Order: sequence, then structure tokens, then C-alpha cells
Amino acid sequence: MTYDVVVIGSGPGGYSAAVRAGQYGLKTALIEKQQRLGGTCLLVGCIPTKSLLHTADVWEYFKNPEAEGIQCRDPQLDYAKVLDRKNKIVTKHSKGIDFLMRKNKVDVLKGHARLQGNGRIELKSDKGTETVEAKNIILATGSEARMIPGLQPDAKQILTNIEILDMPAVPKSLGIIGAGAVGVEFASIFNRFGSKVTILEMLPRLVPVEDEEISKELEKHFKKTGIRIEAGAKAENIRKNEGSVSLTATLANGNKEEMEFEKLLVAVGRKPNTDSVGLENTKAEVDRGFIKVDGYQRTAEPGLYAIGDVVAGTPQLAHVATAEGMAAVAHIAGKPVRPINRSRIPGATYTDPGIGSVGLSEAQARAQGFQVKVGKFPFAGNSKATILNKHEGFVKVIADERFGEILGVHIIGPEAYELISEAVTAMEAEATVETMMSTIHAHPTIYEAIGEAFNNVDGMAINI
Ligand code: NAI
Repeated sequence: MTYDVVVIGSGPGGYSAAVRAGQYGLKTALIEKQQRLGGTCLLVGCIPTKSLLHTADVWEYFKNPEAEGIQCRDPQLDYAKVLDRKNKIVTKHSKGIDFLMRKNKVDVLKGHARLQGNGRIELKSDKGTETVEAKNIILATGSEARMIPGLQPDAKQILTNIEILDMPAVPKSLGIIGAGAVGVEFASIFNRFGSKVTILEMLPRLVPVEDEEISKELEKHFKKTGIRIEAGAKAENIRKNEGSVSLTATLANGNKEEMEFEKLLVAVGRKPNTDSVGLENTKAEVDRGFIKVDGYQRTAEPGLYAIGDVVAGTPQLAHVATAEGMAAVAHIAGKPVRPINRSRIPGATYTDPGIGSVGLSEAQARAQGFQVKVGKFPFAGNSKATILNKHEGFVKVIADERFGEILGVHIIGPEAYELISEAVTAMEAEATVETMMSTIHAHPTIYEAIGEAFNNVDGMAINI
């Protein structure tokens, strides 16, 4: 039997593509080498970290109940139960994907897939080796943590996003190399659980992909809560000791400092899983491990598509993988396709305060020659933020002066990763600053801050 579509990899990109292919009535199979479906995002990424972050948010309320007028003597964090809750959430949703596969008549094939070219896939599993044939293949094999040369994660002292999720207890001290989304999210979790956290970032600021003012604001609040931040720093000579890790840090001012942590998280980016999938048997073009695709996610090999973290030129985010999967399947099924628009991809970083962003940063907009106008509104002027006791941060709108085009929106503050959806929708619908100024925002809500930031593009905010 020849499948219409075989998807390799069951992360958010892969399983969503398989569901959509099933919905279109295509004969579809999903191949996964791991025991459970869900990929990095569900099993060891987005979902378990957000479970821990939620617990950190709740724990924070318990640590400072007086602020709410509540007496709560001697609250305890039962970390084993925290992990158990996280694991149950992962299991529930992994089973949910099993259900979705059955519902959409997708065959799930377990094993390691290797492309053979011309629509043939070698599938190796405990049961042996077989060949699967497909008219179309969607490669969605994801990525894994990049390591600093010479280091190996070991579940004891040197950790990646995987091992850190299952530490049996909260470490007394945690060093983090890299201040991208992975680094800052774990800093935010374990600082609030009580670890002494130090971040070493090579570039001059935290979350370097974000607008500069967002980085500054995050740094301010991280420092206030006791996180040590060394940006522009280099970590060398990393040594494992009995029960700890040491390293030599060269700080931004050139000074060298010996540092020692109970655990060290390495969060310096991710490399695409394209080494062992047989790309050499195809015509697909690869650039430093990333696969080149067109607007329909087609590679140079006829009938081979690639989506998600393996793709060159789009950010490694779960929702990007899903959107790319939708484009690939629509193209296969002959349906209308909207290729990914890079300037409308939301970023969502789950720190405290949280970050949500879309479109150009102020510096990028200026560099591209726009006549930039900026509207900012601080959550300090938002009554719902006061009620939530979450006053930090702001909304920043980047607009083009000529026609009021919205170029970017950057939010740091309460629920920023949820709030950003309004900006994404506005940009997708090509709303202007004027449209957003006359959009009615319910009161009292934190998203009123977005309306006020748009008002403030012309200095017209009401509440500051
Ligand atoms: P990243 O590429 O976002 O950040 C890595 C950071 O490490 C960079 O700031 C880089 O300058 C720094 N770095 C690299 N080498 C270094 C060194 N030797 N010493 C010190 N610093 C060094 O990678 P990250 O955080 O590992 O995340 C991987 C991917 O997963 C990203 O694309 C990220 O967007 C995504 N992700 C998204 C999340 C979200 O949207 N909430 C959560 C977690 C990951």
C-alpha cells in the first residue's frame, strides 16, 4: 500500500499535519521513534516547563499571602508532587494525541525512519526493518539541545531542557548558560522555587531576539528577585566535581571569576535532527543541518516537505511548526495555501514578568527605513494589573508614521504571552493604529494596556 502522506515525527508540527491530512481524507501515517507521541514540546519542552512555571506562579502567591490579606503559616513546596502533576499533564495530552490519530484514521507506525528517496522510507523498529511507501512525505523530526563542545548532559550535574525537568529536588544553586527562552524560563522557575540562580549569556543582553527595552525590563525584574545576570560573559573550563559543577567565567568587564553550582543548565540553542534521516538519499538541500524549503514547505526532493525545527529560516517554535504543517498538507491536498508570514509569528516567553512579541523591534524597524513612531504604556497605569499585584512591565507599539501601519508589538508584563494575540490578529487583519485606538477594550482588563499603548503612539493615552 502506498500512503498519500507519511509524516515523520509526532511533535506539534507532525501530529497536527497528520490530523489535517486525515481531515482532508488522505491516507495518512505518522512515524515516531519514541514510545509516546508529542515530541519535544509535549514531552520535554513547552508543556512540562509551563506546568512548572504555573506552580512557580502559585507558589509565589503562597510565599507572599499578606499582599492579598491572607494569612498562610509555613507553606511547603512538595517538589515530588510538583513533578507528579507535570508528568500527569504530559501523559494526559500524549494520550490525547493517540486519540486524535484514531479519530482521524491516521496509522501510527513506531520506529526510526530513514528516507530512501523517491517516496520510500526505511522503518526500523524492534520488529525488524520494513519499507513504507508514500506519495508525499513530511519531515518533522525536530531538534535537540546543542551542547558546548566537550560537555555531555548527565542527569546529575550537567543538564539540558530534558534532565532539568526530572531533578528529584530543587537545587540550592543553578548556573544557566544562555539567556534565550529556555535559559530565562528555567531561571524564572527555579529562582522562585528557591535556587540561587546565575545566568551567563554571551551576548550583551538577556533574550537577545526581543526588543532591547524588553531585555532591559526583564533584567531589572530578574535582578530585583535575586537572579544574578552576567551578560557579555564567557564560560570556560567547565569541570564536574563530586556533587557540583565549576567553571571559569570571563565577565563583560574582562575580570575572571571562578563559579560553582550544584547544577548547570546548558541552554545555548538547538540543532536540527537531520543527521540520521537519510537526507543524503534525496535531492533536499541542507544548510548547516537545516533544510531549505519554499513557501509551501517543499524541499528540492519531489514529494518531500519539511516543517518545524528542521527548516532553515524560520524560528524554532511549536506554533511555527504547526503553521508550516498546515501549509504543507494544504499544498499536498490541492487546497488554498497561505505561506508563513515571518512578521506575524508571535513569540511567547513564560518568565515572570512574561514576554509576548510580534513583528519588528524598534531597532529593526529603524534599520529597515520606516518612519518609526513608538507608543508605550506601563502596566503601572492599569487598574487590573494593580488588582493582580502585577505592576511590572509595559506594552510597546512600533508603528510607521506615514499610514499608521503596525510594524511590531512588544509586551512584557502579566500574561504577556496571552495578550500578544490581540496584536497578532490586528496585524494579520492589517489593522492600523487608528483601528486599534477605536477598538473597545473591556474594563477592567489587563489588555486595556494594549489599547492605551496604541493611544500613546500619538501621545493620547488616558491613564498616564
Ligand atoms: P536560543 O538560541 O533562543 O538562545 C540561546 C542563547 O544562548 C542565546 O542568547 C546565545 O547568545 C546564548 N549562547 C550561545 N552560546 C553561548 C555560550 N557558549 N555561552 C553563553 N551564552 C551562549 O536557544 P534556547 O533558549 O536554547 O531555545 C531553543 C529554541 O527553542 C529557541 O528557538 C527558542 O525560541 C525555543 N523555545 C521557545 C520557548 C518559548 O517560546 N516559550 C521556550 C523554550 C524554547
